[in-house]
Parts: sequence; structure tokens; C-alpha cells
Amino acid sequence: MLMKRIVFFITLAVFVLMAVGCGSATPVRQEQVAEAGSEVMPFDLERTTHIFEKLDNGGLQQVISDDGDGEQIEHIRIHLSDEAKRFNQGDFHVPAMIHGEDMAGLHELTMGADRLKIQYSDLKDGGQILYTTEDNELVGALHAWFDQQVADHGEHALAKRPDTAETTSSEEESDLGMGMGMMGNNSMRIAHHAAIPEAYVSLSNPIAADAKSLERGAAIYGSSCSVCHGDGGMGDGPGAANLDPVVSPIAHTSQMLSDAYLFWRISEGGQGDPLNSAMPTWKETLDEQARWDVINYVQALGQGKVQPQYNVGGAAYDPAVEQQNRLEMLAEAMQAGLIDQEEAGIFDDVHKALDSLMAETGLRMQGNNLPALLTILVERSEISQAQADTFADVHDQLIEAGLMR
Ligand code: HEC
Repeated sequence: MLMKRIVFFITLAVFVLMAVGCGSATPVRQEQVAEAGSEVMPFDLERTTHIFEKLDNGGLQQVISDDGDGEQIEHIRIHLSDEAKRFNQGDFHVPAMIHGEDMAGLHELTMGADRLKIQYSDLKDGGQILYTTEDNELVGALHAWFDQQVADHGEHALAKRPDTAETTSSEEESDLGMGMGMMGNNSMRIAHHAAIPEAYVSLSNPIAADAKSLERGAAIYGSSCSVCHGDGGMGDGPGAANLDPVVSPIAHTSQMLSDAYLFWRISEGGQGDPLNSAMPTWKETLDEQARWDVINYVQALGQGKVQPQYNVGGAAYDPAVEQQNRLEMLAEAMQAGLIDQEEAGIFDDVHKALDSLMAETGLRMQGNNLPALLTILVERSEISQAQADTFADVHDQLIEAGLMR
């Protein structure tokens, strides 16, 4: 599996380099650029990969350490976050020191900086800057500016993230990739079972999910969230590649989680223990109403009440896919000998009953209230006590095995 990925990566890298090669700068120029770069950039060009990926509404620039060296990663993060701050103020002089004052797109970007949204975030092995704008001319300037950097950096730069090509080129690979992510870490389990801080624990959404709120929520989602969470809220935006812990499919998880939990997580983000995730803190940038509006929007996405928009990329929430994922998870658990066919069937049935209960009553999973929700189903005679017990049992086993999303 790993080998397959590595071989794929190398093939892809060669392919991309060949493609880029046609428009690339002369070796002499690349050498000059590397020399100028080493004076301006604190990290080692030889040990890092630069990715400049064009998006329909902007672009994504990533710098990733090839060998996972802590010091290099630190240098990358400091450099890129400083750059993002300067770019936000219309100051693009650092790249111009490397690539020349006549750099493609430089003038337009400097003049149009106030129409360009620039966001920095940490990656597991480096950092990234996301550029977005609604101005098509600026998109063009940004792409030209990217092209020049890819050409000038020669073998140290790619025009596309290897991961994206991988997922779009092979369904099978992407399924496996998802499975690995599920098993690879238990961050969702940590998050979903964390105690909600006192300041948030009793909150509930005061804003009705009417058309106005959804419209406001859509705008916030499009400008602040879709880059990572994806247009449809499935955790597959362009900024999600390389993040660890992985980005949550919030269109889905927000159907099961309480208002208090969602509001807390959006307000405080995932920095620091125990999550250590790239989920940003929003309480300083989004007022309370904005945070409730975006919760309304995300939940509406997961209920199919609104259609994804903005086009940064990512799948729409699809209950059929969700059902499919659940069946695959159960199949994996059966293969591992954790549960048998009958238990898998009971789990699936009770899960469906829980989904309807939550949709109908607005009740959500929170902390350790699963037994309470199951009791409601038993009292309503929708399931038997034995089925409830089996469900709880299988649920724990799936979590224990790291199979639960
Ligand atoms: C830089 C990428 C990034 C951006 C931008 C981002 N998120 Fe996240 N978000 C994450 C990651 C990674 C996680 C999973 C780890 C965690 O729970 O902290 C996450 C988790 C969450 C969760 C918890 C979901 C769960 O199932 O536990 C919510 C809710 C959420 N994000 C909402 C938002 C909203 C709303 C926005 C926009 C205002 C947003 N995020 C912007 C990366 C991002």
C-alpha cells in the first residue's frame, strides 16, 4: 500500500515536472533563483517541496518538509505566516527579491491586495497560504505569479498537490486513503467525547434556520470554512490535504452533535491539547450570530436543504455514500472478527432509528448520552432492549478498534 503510494507519487512528480518543464526557466536562472532564495527563505530548498496549486477562485501555496525535520518545519511555518501577513498588507516584496521586480502578476496583486483574501494555516509537515478572490482578473494575475514561481524553482516546485491527483485518478486509492485516515487517528473520538467547557455547555442555537440565516451562513462558510471542509461540508476542501488530524465531514457530524458542542468547537478551534488540529479559532473573527448562522448552514448542507456553492471543490453530502461508508466500516469489523453478521445488521438498523430520532426531535449525541437516546427508542418500542445493548456494545468495539468515524 505504502509502496504503491510512493511509486505513484514518483511517477506523478516526474510527469508534473515534464509538463512544467516546457515552460520552465533556464537552469542558469533556476540556479540564480535558488541562490537568491537561500538568502530570503530560512528553510532549505533541497529538503522542501513547494506546491502552487491553481484554484478556480484563487490558489493554494504549500511548503512541505521532505524529511519531516522539526526545525525545517518551524522555519517554513514562520516564513509563510510572515509572508501571509505582508501579502495581506499589499507587500509582495519578498518573492520579488527572489524572482525579480518584473515578476508576472506582481503589479496586479500589489494593487488588488484588498480584494484578495489571504489565509495562513499550519500543515503537519509545513504550512500553507490560501488565496481567494471574487475578482477574475486577480485570479489570472495570481495564476501567472504562481506559474513563474513553479518555473523558477525548477525541481523544487510542483504545480499540483500529489494527493489531489491521486484521489481523482483512482477511486480505489481514495477509498483506501479514507480507510487509513479513519483507522489512523482517533481525533474525532477525542473531540466528540470531550467535556464541553462550562461557558458553552448549556448553549442552544437562538437563531432560526430561516432563509436569511442560511444566506448569511453560506457567505461565511464560503469565505472561511469551505477551503478545508469542502463545498459540501464533507471534509475534502483543497486545504484539507496533508492535515492531521483530518478535517471533519461536518455536514454529517453536525447532524449528530449538539449546538453547544458545535458552537464551542467553532469558537475555540482545535489548537493545543488534546486535539492539536488545524481547526482555527473563530471567536475573534466571527460574532456570535455569525457562528450560529454558519452552524445552521452546515446542518442544512447535511440535510440536503441547501446545495453546495462557491466551487473550491469537494463532494456534496450524500446519505447513500454515508450508508455505504457505514456498511464498509461494519464489513471491516466483521473481517477483523470483532462482530458477526447479526450484530452488524442490528447496528445498522439501530443507527437508522437513531438518525430518524435525531432528525425528528432535534436531540443530539453529546458527551455520554448515547444510552439515554437508546432508552428513548426502547420506550417508543422502535427497538428492543436487547438491540439497544448490542448497539452500545458494537459501538464501543468500533471505537476501541479505531474504526468509528
Ligand atoms: C485550516 C482548515 C480549517 C478551516 C479553515 C476550518 N476548519 Fe473546522 N476543522 C478543521 C479540522 C482539521 C477539524 C478536525 C479536528 C478538530 O476537530 O479539531 C475541524 C473540525 C471542525 C468541527 C468539529 C466537527 C466534529 O465532528 O467534531 C466543526 C464544527 C468545524 N470544524 C467547523 C468549522 C467552521 C464553521 C469553519 C469556518 C468558520 C471551519 N471549521 C474552518 C479544519 C478547518
